[in-house]
Amino acid sequence: METHNTRPLQIAIDGPVGAGKSDISARLAAKLRLLYLNTGAMYRALAYACRRERIAYTDTSRVLECMRRTRIDLKKPDSGSRRPFAVFVNGTDVTEELFTPETDKGASDVSTIADVRRYLVERQQEMAQGKAVVMEGRDIGLRVLPHAQLKVFLTARVEERARRRLLQFQEKGLAKTIDDVIADTRNRDTKDSTRTADPLTKLPDHWELDTTGLSQDDVVKAIIDKLADRKLI
Ligand code: DC
Repeated sequence: METHNTRPLQIAIDGPVGAGKSDISARLAAKLRLLYLNTGAMYRALAYACRRERIAYTDTSRVLECMRRTRIDLKKPDSGSRRPFAVFVNGTDVTEELFTPETDKGASDVSTIADVRRYLVERQQEMAQGKAVVMEGRDIGLRVLPHAQLKVFLTARVEERARRRLLQFQEKGLAKTIDDVIADTRNRDTKDSTRTADPLTKLPDHWELDTTGLSQDDVVKAIIDKLADRKLI
């Protein structure tokens, strides 16, 4: 029979927008030499594909039809890329186009469609099958990797999450105020945690880690310590 220790190590990282999931997951994966999979990028890629075809994110049947004929691949980035992953839509690298306020909104909208979730969750499970991974998203512990050996629920105070997002927007030259971004972050929280299909929720077996005031190094170290405590590494 398969035991806990013979399974490849699978780590689920869930949490709200701006909690630092991507940076932390990528660093953790690099440190432990695990595959890193960013599932939010797949919802973003679908939103991007819909927008390119002028399909409204809320037009369920057209979104589903677009999804079924769109190929979305997550790949390792070229060296020198500023992101720890590359996203391809029908063979074209669109990574840099996925991180705009427009795709933020589109991804949040298409992710409320239950059939979109079912389809992408299946794809995500195929990608992780039999592999040692760090996978991040909103429903990883709940749906994608329910048997992950460690499930982390990464949080931070809304003001801090908004401040981190504001920096990202500023890096892209987008003019926003902190008040706008706090309001938008609260909206995203409400949307992601109140949708009917697999809302963002902290599960009883999630280990919550509040990253407010912590550096990325501190957070990665805390997770590694937790893995060591549980004798997973
Ligand atoms: O992690 P992110 O901000 O890139 O995610 C973009 C959107 O996709 C976010 O609004 C929530 C949704 N999402 C989801 O519903 N389930 C996931 N596993 C990952 C992301």
